[in-house]
Amino acid sequence: MALQTSFTKSLSIRYPIASAPMGGEAGGALAAAVSNGGGLGLIGAGRGDREWLTREARTARESTVEPWGIGFLTWAIDADAVAFALEFAPAAIMLSFGDPQPFARRVLDSGAKLILQVTDLEEAHRALDAGADIIVAQGSDAGGHCGENGMGTLSFVPAVVDLAGSTPVLAAGGIADGRGLAAALTLGASGVLIGTRFQATPEALVSADLRAALLDASGADTECNRTLDIARGAPWPHRYPARTLRNEFLDRWRGRDEELRSDATALREYRDALERGDLTAAPVWAGQSVGLVTAIDSARDLVATIAAEAEQALTRATAH
Ligand SMILES: Cc1cc2nc3c(=O)[nH]c(=O)nc-3n(C[C@H](O)[C@H](O)[C@H](O)COP(=O)(O)O)c2cc1C
Repeated sequence: MALQTSFTKSLSIRYPIASAPMGGEAGGALAAAVSNGGGLGLIGAGRGDREWLTREARTARESTVEPWGIGFLTWAIDADAVAFALEFAPAAIMLSFGDPQPFARRVLDSGAKLILQVTDLEEAHRALDAGADIIVAQGSDAGGHCGENGMGTLSFVPAVVDLAGSTPVLAAGGIADGRGLAAALTLGASGVLIGTRFQATPEALVSADLRAALLDASGADTECNRTLDIARGAPWPHRYPARTLRNEFLDRWRGRDEELRSDATALREYRDALERGDLTAAPVWAGQSVGLVTAIDSARDLVATIAAEAEQALTRATAH
């Protein structure tokens, strides 16, 4: 059974699997590994740090001849960031969390595919208006930032599929293996975008401690919060909290966001903890599927494994 979909056809890739553009963690090595494995690897350029992006985009370009892309946090960039990214000739630009309108035309005119991640139906409408080539429907199961009133992936994906018509939709949030991919395809999605699972690979730019924390955690250990963004002084729009692993700092400050904002000592101590890489304080962004992460597999191999598992799951599902 070939898992060819409108998404794989639009990018001429083998499998309907994209890796999330995890800011600072999804560098060129991860993107290239996923693309070499037959998926679409996306570099997480976050707020658009040029030095970082130059290094990682060059790594991707030197490590694969397959299509790969670059993702940004829409609220944090300007048009120059997109123009700069396009100089590396990515096959796709992905924009998440914010209004894509100011950047859409530039991407579309370049010939790169415009991938827009949405967290609610209003954003889905806006993505279609902006001319998205591909929409990522992110359910609230997801790791990292998400919509404050986000729906669960199982409910949200078909609602976006119905709205999107012929525009391919990727399901995101809570998908970590082939069963998740099979479910997404059954919901009408043309593929999946996976973050948490690819964070736990050797190619991701994360510490050994963080990988170990992902291996240890279960989905019930995750929590949606703004507390850790407030603590690290990250100016995220209020409407996008983040799903992270629970930690001691969060346990101490839960429900006291406003107090934390004005506690200079606590904020200073938090920054010191971040510099030490102290995971009792630092955010470990992870989704509800983190319990399905039981090994540190190479990202390249993981793509084919997930695709093979999905084929088996689809066969099994119809054999009952
Ligand atoms: C560690 C981490 C960092 C993330 N950073 C970004 C980011 O910078 N930009 C973005 O569009 N999405 C980011 N996301 C969200 C992903 O795009 C995606 O929606 C999510 O990973 C899907 O859920 P999953 O983690 O359950 O696979 C991040 C997710 C994780 C886990």
